[in-house]
Amino acid sequence: MKRILLIVSGGIAAYKALELVRLATKAGIGVTAVLTAAGEKFVTPLSLQALTGGKVYQDLFSLTDESEMGHIELSRAADLVVIAPATANILAKLVAGLADDLASTLALATDKPVLVAPAMNVRMWEHAATRANMAVLQQRGVLVVPPDEGAMACGEFGPGRLAEPPAILAAIEAALNDGPLKGKHAIVTSGPTHEPIDPVRYLANRSSGKQGHAIAAALAALGARVTLISGPVSLPDPFGMVVVKVETAREMHAAVRNALPADIAVCAAAVADWHVAPAAQKLKKHGSATPPTLALSENPDILAEISKPGTRRPALVIGFAAETENLAAHATDKRARKHCDWIVANDVSGTGIMGGDENEVLLITGAGTESWPRMGKTRLAQKLADKIKEFFA
Ligand code: CTP
Repeated sequence: MKRILLIVSGGIAAYKALELVRLATKAGIGVTAVLTAAGEKFVTPLSLQALTGGKVYQDLFSLTDESEMGHIELSRAADLVVIAPATANILAKLVAGLADDLASTLALATDKPVLVAPAMNVRMWEHAATRANMAVLQQRGVLVVPPDEGAMACGEFGPGRLAEPPAILAAIEAALNDGPLKGKHAIVTSGPTHEPIDPVRYLANRSSGKQGHAIAAALAALGARVTLISGPVSLPDPFGMVVVKVETAREMHAAVRNALPADIAVCAAAVADWHVAPAAQKLKKHGSATPPTLALSENPDILAEISKPGTRRPALVIGFAAETENLAAHATDKRARKHCDWIVANDVSGTGIMGGDENEVLLITGAGTESWPRMGKTRLAQKLADKIKEFFA
């Protein structure tokens, strides 16, 4: 059984730590709780003890604690140290390496990964000191579940509210994961690209990013380190991975190059084939005799470039083909032309697939073609991730 050491520091949001314990326990994760002095003002040790089913640690100098389990041992007995909620104060202590109470001592002594879920007033979160502290922590590899934006207990509005317990749990599960793709880096492109025409207009397509985002999540769930490079979508950022947001095909191209090397590349994005040189000012209808013409220039083909033989070519490159006719023939041709290993082909002619929740595909590999029946995009993503797992097995 995986185990987390959950440090609950002070703050109105500390009550959500109880829900987090309940969810984690239900998910089969053991929880050892540590409560700071400020945390105890908001939740009682008794509630934490009842939910974790174990001792709640509070005092650095308690002799019983030390005789049962020393603080060094306690800091390493779990697979992951989670600080939720993490106050501005404890984040600053982590940065400085202060060890003046049990929680900060454990965070300094541990040899395990640390995940923080900050919660504080919006001004404190946006303060230059907290910005700088967060930058240092991220650079050190501390995992962060960023706070949500919303109305705060103090009456102000903005980012600073503790992320919801299910989101924190998802990040914990991703961090604890040592699945079959552990050690593999996967780049996934997702969503459409927007190619500006003028400051207010752009060229786009109907891609929602649902399939690409689901694939990124499925690969992360198998333990891969995932970089998701996403065009403009209205989906929440999946947890447990690096998300790079881009707008144009050329930005996506640069972000993919930046993210290399990788073992796996899944190009699920519906990248615009062309861009226009955007006008500096809004194109005016009033006063122009004829409609403007758009001069299109070709965008870089990310999939074709990444598939070129070379030392930086991922071991497995997967492309997508959205077609409206001759699906198998076009997709087979696309696979050969772009030199990718596999192509996931779907018919997007009035099938409701583009933008919808379901997908029906042909998977074309060097070994032949498989026809996958219509299913949810999440299910399809898991099936593809399983195929990828088999490839590396
Ligand atoms: N793709 C890409 N970069 C581009 C265009 C496409 O990486 N500039 C990738 C897509 O992510 C997808 C695959 O190439 O995995 C196929 O995209 P598609 O638009 O269908 O291919 P095209 O080369 O544009 O083929 P055509 O327009 O002739 O169908």
